[in-house]
Amino acid sequence: MLIKQVYIENNSVKQDVRIENGQFTAIEAQIEPYENEEVIDADGKLLLPPFIDSHVHLDATLTAGDPEWNESGTLFDGIRIWSERKKTLTKQDVKERALATLKKQASHGIQFVRSHVDTTDPNFTALEALLEVRDEVKDFMTLQLVAFPQEGILSFPRGKELLEQAVKDGVDVIGGIPHFEFNRDYGVESLRYLVGLAEKYDKLVDVHCDEIDDPQSRNLEVLATLAYETGLGDRITASHTTAMGSYNDAYTYKLMRLLKLSDINMVSNPLVNIHLGGRFDTYPKRRGLTRIQDLTANGINVSFGEDDIKDPWYPMGDGNMLDPVHMGIHAEQMMGYSQIMNSYEFVTNKAAKTLHVADQYGIEVGKAANCLIFNAANFYDELNERKELLYSIHNGKIIVETKPAVTKLNL
Ligand code: FE2
Repeated sequence: MLIKQVYIENNSVKQDVRIENGQFTAIEAQIEPYENEEVIDADGKLLLPPFIDSHVHLDATLTAGDPEWNESGTLFDGIRIWSERKKTLTKQDVKERALATLKKQASHGIQFVRSHVDTTDPNFTALEALLEVRDEVKDFMTLQLVAFPQEGILSFPRGKELLEQAVKDGVDVIGGIPHFEFNRDYGVESLRYLVGLAEKYDKLVDVHCDEIDDPQSRNLEVLATLAYETGLGDRITASHTTAMGSYNDAYTYKLMRLLKLSDINMVSNPLVNIHLGGRFDTYPKRRGLTRIQDLTANGINVSFGEDDIKDPWYPMGDGNMLDPVHMGIHAEQMMGYSQIMNSYEFVTNKAAKTLHVADQYGIEVGKAANCLIFNAANFYDELNERKELLYSIHNGKIIVETKPAVTKLNL
């Protein structure tokens, strides 16, 4: 297959891209097609590496309104409604909703997803379902599963045992929720325990860390210290870290040094955290997000996730990574032209580093032919105008194709 005259990642010069046997085999200014070679004429279109959702919860997805809508919009009503919905969870129910969501995500150009799955269910209903789904979608989606102890590791009966069992059952990543544990000591011990498991089983780590507006919630410094001292470094990710939006500047300055030393990855979920954050504030009202701009300026890897797609915590979401990018750059005031142009990095290359798929990812000769072609010349236009995803190509195969609709203006 030959893709003609695309702008690769906002480059100002057009190039041709050849794909053979599922890999990129040539990227040059002009390539002549072979006889009978499939040619995509993409003159002046944007070519990007595929979108990655670094953080979502596929076990709860598409349950909004069942058994009731979260009319208050608070985290706590979300937990209350989910605890009711959880009682009716079956393997088939989880599989159907997760598959529908993954197909929707694929239709918007996502080819890699990291999903957390609640493992504080002694029956492991959702975990068993998602392990099967991971296998069923592997031809169009790389799905990583995180063992997520939603109700704690130390603060939930048999929490340690359940987490280790989930790891043995085949998750890719180990999670935690230290700010939700009963006390600070439990939070610290939970982090030591889960990082120890990651060393024992050679797994990645992704912790829901300090997802609260409390400036005293400081588990991130513990996790970063563990990342530094164990040498696990960028195999460890801290998700949410919204408390950092409330930390004072002197403490944050000190923390940044440790974060840089540790090489830890960070994931922000701008849609959900702007919705759930600052709920105890009247006015002025905090945004409830981590310091995306400061972290990025300090060279710390930050990627974005959708977190929730139509569930008790967040009623919106369509599986489209342009939504968290759009929200993230607004809420964090990263709206310089070059910041907008480069914001695709939060859901592509930076996310590939977080998921540890960078060695198979990127528009380079010799790498797997995974890419997206948009009906726009650059990411500024794409994000503003939401032009069609013309093609999503996965391992050299076209898995999504869109024919632009024609709008007639009778003015
Ligand atoms: Fe989350």
